[in-house]
Amino acid sequence: MEFQQQVMQAVGMIRTQYLGYPNVGVILGSGLGAFIDYIDVEHEIPYSEIPHFPVTTVEGHSGKLIFGKIGNKSIVIMAGRFHAYEGYSPKEVVFPIRVLKMLGVQQLFISNAAGGVHPDFNVGDLMVIRDHISFAIINPLIGPNNEAFGPRFPDMSEPYSKTLIAKGHEAALKLGYTLKEGIYFGVTGPTFETRAEYKLIRTLGADAVGMSTVQEVIAGVHCGMNIFAMSVITDIGIREEENRITHEDVLAAATEAEPKLTAIFKEIIESL
Ligand code: HPA
Repeated sequence: MEFQQQVMQAVGMIRTQYLGYPNVGVILGSGLGAFIDYIDVEHEIPYSEIPHFPVTTVEGHSGKLIFGKIGNKSIVIMAGRFHAYEGYSPKEVVFPIRVLKMLGVQQLFISNAAGGVHPDFNVGDLMVIRDHISFAIINPLIGPNNEAFGPRFPDMSEPYSKTLIAKGHEAALKLGYTLKEGIYFGVTGPTFETRAEYKLIRTLGADAVGMSTVQEVIAGVHCGMNIFAMSVITDIGIREEENRITHEDVLAAATEAEPKLTAIFKEIIESL
């Protein structure tokens, strides 16, 4: 079956349960699920019940669409997302982005856990993503283009909305949080990087590195969404001493920083 038909079937099923048109979509990264506490939840649908929707396999990702409100804003949250390292094809990774688009999403908020390579970064820092570098990641738009979603050759001069970035800084200032800004380097994982790779990533001009986000952003840009993305720095790549990184450390650091990230997202969404 064609990708477009699969998207339509998924949307059709969702429409049998939820009739709202959320303008805002939120994708929550590893250990960053508590955003849901801010939402007046109207409806939830497990991914497993949506036709063609992939199902998450990573610890810390629960796997459902949550519909609700923040103030008077209708919002849909992806609690759990899909990564290339789980074995999903690029098209599967971005399937939900197409579904969100068809449900009405114009503003997409993305969170992730990332390793810091900027020398001034510390574990627990928040970094708003200004731009990204896609490294060894298969572009999800490879294959026949669906003009209904967007152009064959999308412009990528402003993948992350300058307006939303400015709002992010305003929100952080208002809340009294320090918010870094930088360039996210997307890798496939699932290995964390070697010392040499962290150094290379820094040399190539990035500030943080992670295993998600890039394919979703490409699909979102392709279909005209405004995107805001923020990383929690959960580990520091460049250091000469003992440098073991575990998924547990990443989850712990993300959970610790989560209230701040969540508050910033909420503040921006309320200001839209
Ligand atoms: N590298 C890649 N992905 C990550 C990291 C990292 O150091 N930390 C969290 N996700």
